[in-house]
Amino acid sequence: MSIINLDLGLRSYPIYIDSGLLDNAELFATHIRAKRVCIVTNTIVAPLYLENLKANLGDFDFDIDEIILSDGEAEKSLANFERIMSHLLTNEHGRDTTLIALGGGVIGDITGFAAACYQRGIDFIQIPTTVLSQVDSSVGGKTAVNHPLGKNMIGAFYQPKAVIIDIDSLATLPVREFNAGMAEVIKYGILGDYDFFVWLENNIASIKSGDKNTLVKVIEKCCQCKADIVANDETETGVRALLNLGHTFGHAIEAEQGYGNWLHGEAVATGMVLAAKLAVAMNLLEVSDLCRIESLIKSFDLPLEAPETMSCDDFIRHMRRDKKNIGGKLRFIVPTAIGQSEIRDDVTQEILQQIL
Ligand code: NAD
Ligand code: GLY
Repeated sequence: MSIINLDLGLRSYPIYIDSGLLDNAELFATHIRAKRVCIVTNTIVAPLYLENLKANLGDFDFDIDEIILSDGEAEKSLANFERIMSHLLTNEHGRDTTLIALGGGVIGDITGFAAACYQRGIDFIQIPTTVLSQVDSSVGGKTAVNHPLGKNMIGAFYQPKAVIIDIDSLATLPVREFNAGMAEVIKYGILGDYDFFVWLENNIASIKSGDKNTLVKVIEKCCQCKADIVANDETETGVRALLNLGHTFGHAIEAEQGYGNWLHGEAVATGMVLAAKLAVAMNLLEVSDLCRIESLIKSFDLPLEAPETMSCDDFIRHMRRDKKNIGGKLRFIVPTAIGQSEIRDDVTQEILQQIL
């Protein structure tokens, strides 16, 4: 089993990565301080993994109940946040309850936010079951729900007690979801790790075949990269913003197209291509690097082009709400080479018009 520690002083926690971890109830037990557990999951993941997890935890005499939400990005809502609160209150959960998020990023984000708020904060554990949630959203403590006017606009930084990644859960993931998660994987290579980018270029077939050793290596590498960044900048006052590479354009695409029509990872993939084009237009990045970025993204069947119907003004309208903006100025993460990136707030309207 691979264990990565996210070093945040009193809020430090381990990230476990291996095959078969959902059966390892002993591991869960070490991170659950009292006997009450509430599992939050959804209608897709529950039939696949919930009963097995409950049976394993049951062997340790935990008192377990569950909340099963509907599937989809639209469920990361204030209405479902209230539903979780009502369930916890109705079932007399106290401060010693541990919430377990069993699912992808949607479940992880809303469960984490519920844990942050219920009775001013209770423990929670992340069991991410998608590539995206295993390499990104379950690590680092960003929790949130969406508002009709913007994604992730209501939330908190709140760290889990542990992240338990069972790579076997990826076997049931639809290919489109798997590939969308690979966008976030490629992101780590572009933003800060040239060798990892090259390794990805050389291991496309093995990743796509679902080879377990390869997947463990991918997830390990990404979690280590994220843990290093978050340990240095938990609340995104500096270097953590680099993890938003591709997200400025990506969030605009998701919002304009309606959440769920473009998957988050797909929008991030196109967003990274646009960020690279922006860098080329500003003479910060070689065209040959842009081509390599496009090629790796394309090899996972991810989109390279923004929706034809979206104008530059459409992008700007959405990007004005980006949480990275300071003093009303748009800020972009741009790659300056493969494995290197920086934050820029000097992107002119003309350059945006040129690339969009
Ligand atoms: P998701 O949670 O919607 O999961 C994708 C789909 O896969 C869903 O239909 C889900 O039900 C299904 N699914 C999950 N696990 C499965 C499995 N093992 N087998 C079969 N189907 C499975 O989406 P996601 O891509 O995991 O996460 C996207 C969300 O994460 C967005 O809301 C995004 O804002 C958020 N996010 C958060 C952070 C963060 O730092 N907190 C970072 C990146 C993204
Ligand atoms: N997914 C971006 C972050 O966690 O900061």
